[in-house]
Amino acid sequence: MRKKLIVGNWKMNLNTHQASVLVHRLEENIETHKDVDVVICPSVMSVQPLNLQVNKRKMKLGAQDAFYEDEGAYTGQVSAAMLHGVVEYCIVGHSERRHVFGETDDVIGKKLAAVVRNKIKPILCVGETSADRSGGETKQVLHDQVTADLRNLTDKEIQNIVIAYEPVWAIGTGDFAKPNQVKEAIEIIRHNVRELYGAKTEEGLRVLYGGSVKPDNAQSYMDVEGVDGLLVGGASLNYKQFSEIVASAHKSAEN
Ligand code: PGA
Repeated sequence: MRKKLIVGNWKMNLNTHQASVLVHRLEENIETHKDVDVVICPSVMSVQPLNLQVNKRKMKLGAQDAFYEDEGAYTGQVSAAMLHGVVEYCIVGHSERRHVFGETDDVIGKKLAAVVRNKIKPILCVGETSADRSGGETKQVLHDQVTADLRNLTDKEIQNIVIAYEPVWAIGTGDFAKPNQVKEAIEIIRHNVRELYGAKTEEGLRVLYGGSVKPDNAQSYMDVEGVDGLLVGGASLNYKQFSEIVASAHKSAEN
């Protein structure tokens, strides 16, 4: 049985008190299943207090970003070394980091290596913009991101990472991707990893879909071959919706 992974990305929402209330609600509503791992990624402000609150059998904690140096004169940054022992997962290269903060594949590759070096599981986000897609560039963009972002990792390290396919045009827009578009993109990602690092590495890799996932479309993605879970933004701030998405992952894992 391949475990499913449902990740909630809370982005820059909720202060520590609000985050704590949401964790409480989620713990009341999410049913624990052996076949589904649930990860929540609150603001970095809240990870430390939530680490004390969260019932780790129900949910794991993740960070939304981490800097690539472990320490030093980098005002405002939080390093993966600081997150070590507090979070189990860390999102790297989210499209908002790429497009709002101008992170390049060079930076993302270094961040990925830092997260792995500090024994945190990375969730690497890749995905094309709508201009890429309409220009027929999706395959090339995914290939370039996968190749450049993974370049600092060994085959063995790649076996344990998570890649999230998140088409930029589908994030926070309600314009979600069709399951066959997701299938195609995930095949491209898996194919690239297989070509570069071999079949064994590709088999170990967990691949998620993210972009306007809601309770009513979650199941359709979970049923796509090669999809191991979901990265959920907006709907992860609503405990009812997020719990329903977790339940649908369990349902598809059972089938
Ligand atoms: P969304 O965000 O579910 O609100 O589209 C997804 C993400 O940013 O990871």
